[in-house]
Amino acid sequence: MSKDKVVLAYSGGLDTSVCIRYLQLRYNMDVISLTVDCGQNDDFNGIEDRAKEIGVIKHVFEECTEEFAQRYIIPSIKSNGLYEDKYPLATALARPLISAKLVEVAHRHGASTVAHGCTGKGNDQIRFDATIRALDPQMKILSPIRDMNLTRDLELKFAIEQEIPISLEAKKFSIDENIWGRAIEGGIMEDAAFEPPQDAFGFVRFGDDKVEYMDIEFEEGVPIAVDSRAMGIIELIRYINHKAGSLGVGVVDHVEDRTVGIKSREIYEAPAAIVLIEAHKDLEKMVLTAHELRFKRNVDEQWGWLVYSGLWKEPLRSHLDKFIDSTQKRVCGKVRIRMQSGSLRVVGRESKYSLYRNSLATYTSESTFDQTLAKGFVELWALQCSVANSIDMAMRLDVDKKGGGNR
Ligand code: ARG
Repeated sequence: MSKDKVVLAYSGGLDTSVCIRYLQLRYNMDVISLTVDCGQNDDFNGIEDRAKEIGVIKHVFEECTEEFAQRYIIPSIKSNGLYEDKYPLATALARPLISAKLVEVAHRHGASTVAHGCTGKGNDQIRFDATIRALDPQMKILSPIRDMNLTRDLELKFAIEQEIPISLEAKKFSIDENIWGRAIEGGIMEDAAFEPPQDAFGFVRFGDDKVEYMDIEFEEGVPIAVDSRAMGIIELIRYINHKAGSLGVGVVDHVEDRTVGIKSREIYEAPAAIVLIEAHKDLEKMVLTAHELRFKRNVDEQWGWLVYSGLWKEPLRSHLDKFIDSTQKRVCGKVRIRMQSGSLRVVGRESKYSLYRNSLATYTSESTFDQTLAKGFVELWALQCSVANSIDMAMRLDVDKKGGGNR
C-alpha cells in the first residue's frame, strides 16, 4: 500500500531538515519538499540535494520573487509596513505566499497534508496555519517541531544521530531571508544586552564612512526609479540593498512583542525596506492632507499588525488595502536621501502634486498668505477650550471659598 503524501515547506535549514526525517519516521509518510524562492541568496541546487539526501520522494522549486514583490512588498511599501515602528515584516510577508504554494503543490500532487518547520513559540506557525486554513479548510497541517515540543539542541542532536547534513551557519543562528530582509535569531543574540557580531550580517557592511546620496522616484506610491534609472521592482530592491547596505544602513535591533505573548530580541537587516519606507513616508507628508495623514497612520498601523500576526487573509486587510490604494494617487515624485555610516536622512523632496506651497509658507514679503485672517480663526479654534477653562477656574474658586469657610 502506498504511503500518505505530505508537502513540507523546506528551506534547507535545521528545523525543516529535521522535519523531513520526523515525517518519515514518526508519521510514516512520503515527503515532498517545496522550496519557494522569495529572493533569498541561497544555493537552491544544494537545498534540493540535501532534501533528496534526507530522502524526499520529490522536490519542488517555485521561483516567486516577482509575485512576492508585486503582491506583498508593494502593498507593504504603500502602507509604510513597519511592525512596532521598526520591523519591515520581511518574514511575515513571505509566509502567506509560501502557504499558498504549499496548498497549490499539495493539490497538484494529491496530498491531503502539508507541513511546516515552525516552533510553537513564534509567529510563523500562525501565519502558515491561518493562511492554509483560509485557502483549504480540509487540508491537514503537521508541525513536527511544535507537536513534539522540540528544542534547538534536541534537533541538533537528532540531526547528528540521523546523519542529516546541516550548514555551519545553522549551528550558530536561526536565519530567515528573502529579498525584503534578513532576520537573525538565536545563539548569542538571545542575550538582549549583547551587541550582534559583524559576521551575523549578510546584506550590511560596516566601516565605510563615505557620504552617498540616493534619489528615489515614486509613481502612485510605487518606487519606479533610483538614481535617475528606471528599474523593475526586483532590480530596484537589489540595487538599494547593495548600495545602502554597503554604507551600513538598514540594521534594526529591538525587543519585539510576538503574537504568542513572548518578548523577543530581534535583529534584522533590511536596507531597501528601511530606505524605501522612509522615503515613501516623507513623500506622503508632502502630498497628503493633514487629515489623510492622521487617518492613514492608524490604517497603516492596523495593516502592519494584521500582517505580523498572521491574518493576511483577514477580509479587513483587503478593505484597508482599498483605502491605502486610493490615497496613493498623489504619491508621485522624487525623494533624495543622504546616507553615511549607517545613518540615513531625507534631504529633499519634490512632487507635481505637492500641497506644500512656497508662496504660502515663506516668511518673506513674497507671501500670499493673509495673516490678518488668522486672528478670527484662532479665536474660534480655541473657543471651547477657553470656555472650559473659565468653568474650571470658577469651580476652583468655589471649592476654595467653601474650604475657607470650614477652616
Ligand atoms: N520575528 C520575526 C517575525 O515574526 C522574524 C522571524 C524569523 N523567523 C525565523 N524562522 N528565523 O516575522
